[in-house]
Amino acid sequence: MEKLQAFDLVLFGGTGDLAMRKLLPALYRRFIAGQFPAEARVVGVARGDLTRDAYRAQVEASCRNHAVDGFDVAQWVAFAERLHYVRADGARPDSFGDLVQFLRGREAFTRIFFLSTAPTLFAGICDQIGSAGLATSLSRVVLEKPLGQDLTSASQINAHVGAIFSEPQIFRIDHYLGKEAVQNLLALRFGNALFEPLWRRGRIRHVQITVAETLGVETRGPFYDQTGALRDMVQNHLLQLLCIIAMEPPATSDADAMRDEKLKVLRALRPIAGRDVLNKTVRGQYKAGAAVGKPVVAYLDETGVPADSTTETFVAIKAEIDTWRWAGVPFYLRTGKRLQEKLSEIVITFEDVPHSIFDAEARSQSPNRLTIALQPKDSITLTILAKNPGETMRLKPVNLSLDLADSFKTRQLDAYERLLTDIIKGNLTLFMRRDELDAAWRWIDPIREGWQQYDGPPKLYTAGSWGPAAANSMISRDGFSWNGET
Ligand code: BG6
Repeated sequence: MEKLQAFDLVLFGGTGDLAMRKLLPALYRRFIAGQFPAEARVVGVARGDLTRDAYRAQVEASCRNHAVDGFDVAQWVAFAERLHYVRADGARPDSFGDLVQFLRGREAFTRIFFLSTAPTLFAGICDQIGSAGLATSLSRVVLEKPLGQDLTSASQINAHVGAIFSEPQIFRIDHYLGKEAVQNLLALRFGNALFEPLWRRGRIRHVQITVAETLGVETRGPFYDQTGALRDMVQNHLLQLLCIIAMEPPATSDADAMRDEKLKVLRALRPIAGRDVLNKTVRGQYKAGAAVGKPVVAYLDETGVPADSTTETFVAIKAEIDTWRWAGVPFYLRTGKRLQEKLSEIVITFEDVPHSIFDAEARSQSPNRLTIALQPKDSITLTILAKNPGETMRLKPVNLSLDLADSFKTRQLDAYERLLTDIIKGNLTLFMRRDELDAAWRWIDPIREGWQQYDGPPKLYTAGSWGPAAANSMISRDGFSWNGET
């Protein structure tokens, strides 16, 4: 395993949920994999008055909980030697003294400031990094989503961050881009000649992107209520998946070559504004029901959610891309909390044969379909028509299936393991550039404004269902149905 260059990783929000659940366990796994050089250090930063030992005990508990291949005590002891804690408050000027002290004399090493905090703190933290003189030419800053609430607030944050760090030093995370399955999508599209001639209007009838969760808002009620599914999931994860499906082949896999092509897709999205939202979007909110067989409360009864909230926990959108390749091919996007299954998939439905030699009875109505599953399993399934065994000629859909984990029999990297190593190496390919983020907000903002102006309250759906009936009506108006629901 290739060793990383020497680094200091400064983790703001170091006691927070993301740090404990994802980031620190991912770093521990990369440590076990032998990627940490001798000088590497990880320092959790938070406001609490914690000793280093108390912090290490918290991190140990979460690494044990999130161990993938078992917990190795000897490795943990060695990792804990690299783990530190420093107290600082991003909202209080002059609270960075201890951090300055901690980083003194380490200017020759890569320095990463990972901002795993509320986005409202990003600007303040960057200002203080700047005024404390901590930003070296070898520094990088990592921004977790959501980056702002809309284009205006995102631009303000980007301006603050941009005053301290240059664009190639800024890593805007969308953890979906770190998922193995998303990497596979690039391999599928750009490593094989087979699909490219079919990857266009005239060959593809429609595309569906579903990211469904069984979870509710868990402990994040107040945050989620200010955010909603459109900003939490569509603005970033679903649009990034759409970009990877729809982008033109870049000339190289170089970060800017890839990001240029994704940007063109975002800019070609047809705006959905004003009354369009009534036909092309559906927003929903879950009421009480069941999640994986257990009764669960309505969104309005979740802790930290106001009883009259109109925040959406479900969104369905018909997106259209105005380019030669995609004109007339709808991309249906759907995401929600408390849906029937945890499932992320992209379904590409191809056109039917132009003329069938089989009589109506022999024919099945199903056209060819390519299903790329991201979760729970990473798989690719091509549905083709074959003859049903027997005397008569009857066509039936059958699946050519590829289970990627099974085929390669090696543990897949968790999205954050991949993204953290890319950050340390300085590889920007899987991170969003500022213009991409702006273009995404430019498309999202009018949808929210349209909802405020023209739409009624969100449509209610029972927890454990596939969302409001209106999402089915939206797609059936075009003569289609959501995959798995006919
Ligand atoms: C996060 C959202 O970005 O993605 C969460 O803020 C959501 O609300 C999560 O649950 C889903 O990620 P994954 O990897 O479990 O599909």
